[in-house]
Amino acid sequence: MCVAIAIIESVMHVLTRLSACRSNGNAKRCRQIHGRHVRKARTPIWTCGPPESMLSSRRRAADERGTRELLERDGTSNIRVDRHWAGNMTETSASLNILGICGSLRKGSYNLGLLSALQDIAPAGVTIDILTSWDDIPVLNTDLLDEDGQPPVAVKRVADLIRAADAVIFASPEYCYSVPGPVKNLTDWLALPPHVNALRFKPTGVIGASVGPGGSARGQMVLRATLMFHDAIVMGKPEIAVAFSGVKFDPEGNLKDEATVELLRRYLSDFIEFSDSTRARRLDTLNREFVF
Ligand SMILES: Cc1cc2nc3c(=O)[nH]c(=O)nc-3n(C[C@H](O)[C@H](O)[C@H](O)COP(=O)(O)O)c2cc1C
Repeated sequence: MCVAIAIIESVMHVLTRLSACRSNGNAKRCRQIHGRHVRKARTPIWTCGPPESMLSSRRRAADERGTRELLERDGTSNIRVDRHWAGNMTETSASLNILGICGSLRKGSYNLGLLSALQDIAPAGVTIDILTSWDDIPVLNTDLLDEDGQPPVAVKRVADLIRAADAVIFASPEYCYSVPGPVKNLTDWLALPPHVNALRFKPTGVIGASVGPGGSARGQMVLRATLMFHDAIVMGKPEIAVAFSGVKFDPEGNLKDEATVELLRRYLSDFIEFSDSTRARRLDTLNREFVF
């Protein structure tokens, strides 16, 4: 009761100050008051700490087992997953399993190089698996759905890998100012059937490298817009758009540019925090009705 009264009083106080500012025409002061108010409202979210579920080693172990089983099952598939253990995961350390999806199917892909560089700098407890070849996914045609509305096996396999991961990072070039066709084809498939969309509420990163001066930024915008449809939770900043990739990677696609490695370090650190706070909200991917 006391808390409610205190909240009402502080809201009234802010409203009074705002209206006084408006009548004085003091725009700068108004912004400051507004800013303070917004920061105050957010404080409890950060001070109460992560819920127990986020720290549960049992859930982490189950997730990890699930990913392993999926990886093993993938032995017969065209899909290749490159696994790299970034460090020794212990029962007490925080862990995060990230699935990197490379938007280029090219062997010496610069975008594959970006994901490999992330693997190299990942801290202990963070694993990054890279989905590198998924060219057995057919061009989308809803006639290919089975009688239960399920997509082809190749699509389901990728969906399962995404589902098993704690977070996803797309690293993709830009094609013709947009997202490469295979990436759009893949994400469209993931929308079917709609109620089990694996990207839904998934902490997601979008980065990219291109040979042009834009560094894939326009393609990233298109991908971000698409991911919004899927209800993926996409980190906005920092951005990684590697321009003139031809001079930053060697011909095999290994990142050679130290400044870019530093940017990736900062990016990964922020992405881990972003993913943890998103997971802490414990959004349920299946319990809400999906409307097209
Ligand atoms: C069909 C096609 C369209 C492209 N369009 C663009 C573009 O719009 N902007 C750009 O910077 N680079 C563009 N590129 C060049 C790519 O940036 C370059 O091929 C890059 O190396 C692809 O990424 P990857 O190394 O990961 O395969 C295009 C390449 C192809 C094949």
